[in-house]
Amino acid sequence: MKTVTTLEELFQARSELPSPVGLVPTMGFLHEGHLILMRQAKQTCASVVVSIFVNPTQFGPGEDLESYPRDIEHDLALLEHLGVDLVWLPTPEVMYPPNYQTWVEVSDVTQPLEGSFRPGHFRGVTTVVSKLFNAVRPDVAVFGQKDAQQVAVVKQMTRDLSYPIKIDVVPIVREGDGLALSSRNTYLKKPQRKAATVLYKSLRKAEAAYLEGERRADAIRRIMTDTIAEEPLASVQYVSCADLDTLQELEMITSKALLSMAVYVGQTRLIDNWILQP
Ligand code: PAJ
Repeated sequence: MKTVTTLEELFQARSELPSPVGLVPTMGFLHEGHLILMRQAKQTCASVVVSIFVNPTQFGPGEDLESYPRDIEHDLALLEHLGVDLVWLPTPEVMYPPNYQTWVEVSDVTQPLEGSFRPGHFRGVTTVVSKLFNAVRPDVAVFGQKDAQQVAVVKQMTRDLSYPIKIDVVPIVREGDGLALSSRNTYLKKPQRKAATVLYKSLRKAEAAYLEGERRADAIRRIMTDTIAEEPLASVQYVSCADLDTLQELEMITSKALLSMAVYVGQTRLIDNWILQP
């Protein structure tokens, strides 16, 4: 496994990789939810590139950029063990050199949900992902359904900017009790960790109602809100029942719908989602 930092090193190492090349972009502090993306990439590609970069431009003021968990040594050991071919660890200066001025912005699909509570977040994501795409030139890029809106936004950007890259999406990896794996779960103290299962619980309750025939999106949203309200350590930022493609809120569920939410457990902001299949 090769580890590189500068663009020159990356281009050299990339040119030696057999095609097709798969890219898995990450911010590090890797867990099973990341590793499954790399296994997916290994299945479909001859070489796998992983990037680890805590991208400052996708964090808002007051968000957790400084405290975001990092453990490069552990990450590299996991990637080596998986058989990843190339790891790119750019510094902030490599990604955003002095006098940096260029941004990639996707419009409609970035507006609701995460976009409405984290202004500028997706501008940072699409800018860094497009820079990763340009530098690595992968044939395939793998993302997790954990960040459902990120998937929709990256797919939109890939289409709009004509990147010849296939976007593969991997289902959410969860703990035994349903909590979606996330680097931010390390922030949770013991009682909070227990309370955090309420996100999954609320999604499952909403799905159960859907399976029993409930099609009114309002009723589905209310089930999720009410379930989360029963957990005193949790507070809802938003719950949504939206069209899976446009992410616009639904009145009635008539096609594939995305249930999603952001919930604070203490100071920790957790997101989760579930797709309702017709
Ligand atoms: P990060 O949060 O490190 O996540 C990297 C990838 O792992 C994303 O595609 C995310 O959806 C996926 N992932 C995380 N937890 C998962 C889980 N429990 N199950 C399935 N997939 C999971 O997402 C980012 O980094 C950044 O925004 C990035 C795309 C790297 C751009 O900076």
